[in-house]
Amino acid sequence: MNVLLVGSGGREHALAWKIAQSPLLVRLVCAPGNVGIAHLCETRAVKADDVAGLAALAREIAADLVVVGPEVALAAGLADALALAGIACFGPTAAAARLETSKSFTREFAERHALPGTPHKTFEDLESAQAALERFTPPWVIKADGLAAGKGVVIAPDLETARAAVADMLAVAGGRVVIEQFMQGEELSFFALCDGVRAIPFGAAQDHKRAFDGDLGPNTGGMGAYAPAPVGTPHLLDDAFERIVRPTVEGMAAEASPYRGVLYAGLMATADGPRLVEFNARFGDPECQVLMLRLENDILPLLHAAAIGDLSAVEAPRWRDEAVVCVVLAAQGYPSAPVSGGRIEGAFADFGPDVVVFVAGAQAGEDCDALIATGGRVLNVCARGPDIATARDRAYAAVDRIGFPQGFHRRDIAWRALAEGR
Ligand code: GLY
Repeated sequence: MNVLLVGSGGREHALAWKIAQSPLLVRLVCAPGNVGIAHLCETRAVKADDVAGLAALAREIAADLVVVGPEVALAAGLADALALAGIACFGPTAAAARLETSKSFTREFAERHALPGTPHKTFEDLESAQAALERFTPPWVIKADGLAAGKGVVIAPDLETARAAVADMLAVAGGRVVIEQFMQGEELSFFALCDGVRAIPFGAAQDHKRAFDGDLGPNTGGMGAYAPAPVGTPHLLDDAFERIVRPTVEGMAAEASPYRGVLYAGLMATADGPRLVEFNARFGDPECQVLMLRLENDILPLLHAAAIGDLSAVEAPRWRDEAVVCVVLAAQGYPSAPVSGGRIEGAFADFGPDVVVFVAGAQAGEDCDALIATGGRVLNVCARGPDIATARDRAYAAVDRIGFPQGFHRRDIAWRALAEGR
């Protein structure tokens, strides 16, 4: 199979790493890719939102499958353009991707299909939004109604912060803001592969959204992830699949926006069962890195079957009976003002068979071993082990061998799984 992979982050490096192991693979090209991905396959300098350029590249390499990593490509209509060109695409159309790109679409869809969620309201003007804050109980959950790379959510502990967040989000041209009732519980990222009419579960992982240890600091795109997470019991995942994922895929088909690709349901495990926090139209980052290290079977038949609209006969995903922990190394100042240019030593050292390092935001340095940070999240250090504690020790042992003085990371990834009494 000839495959074009779209994207340039740690998520796409993990997808490339897994796809490159497929016996079905003939040629893998990644656009635009990154310095880590370039160790695995050919990369081409076509940006993830350059729909015409990507469609031309897919034709040039006679792609049998295009795998879309980031939401920006989906929002730009890459899947729509590839459908016109007759090329199978793992990723939804722009209309179906509204499950991620429009919070208000999703909330209204959730109401139409009775998905378990939380009370919420969408606003376009500052006065009504700020007045409505009084009607919600603290803390206030404020979300930008559009793409925000996983960072468009503020959980405000006091009214002053909530008012400022509402004003900031509405200051963006055409901005709309969603205010939601806070849900008490533990969050979990749950994934399903979808072929337009049916879905199959594709694992779960717990992300760490706050920047600093102890779940403190600003929300980020994710500072680490691990699986299996104790909160993701088979009962909870079955419930989430039946009450949230299945009705969503069926509802999208019934509303003439069939959903193909991966559906990422951000869940809150509450005392009343799983509730929907948000949908994303792509793999979580860094959750994808964890899934790729745990997935035992070949990923290409799964992605291809979803893309061509027939998951009915595919071999179900099998997961290693092992734990995986991923620690994100970020540039100081992330998420608000990450410092670029920091030197990273030792990212490509041999850490042994249970550790894999993915590049998220870095380029090659002048000497062959060093990397230079270019983004907020820079490296993803992932490790497998027989249990979470071992996987975590292996990941941190590797982190401690990487020199990145202008970076930071959390030291408590997977703390919930290791908390006493679990
Ligand atoms: N890790 C959260 C996200 O991918 O949105």
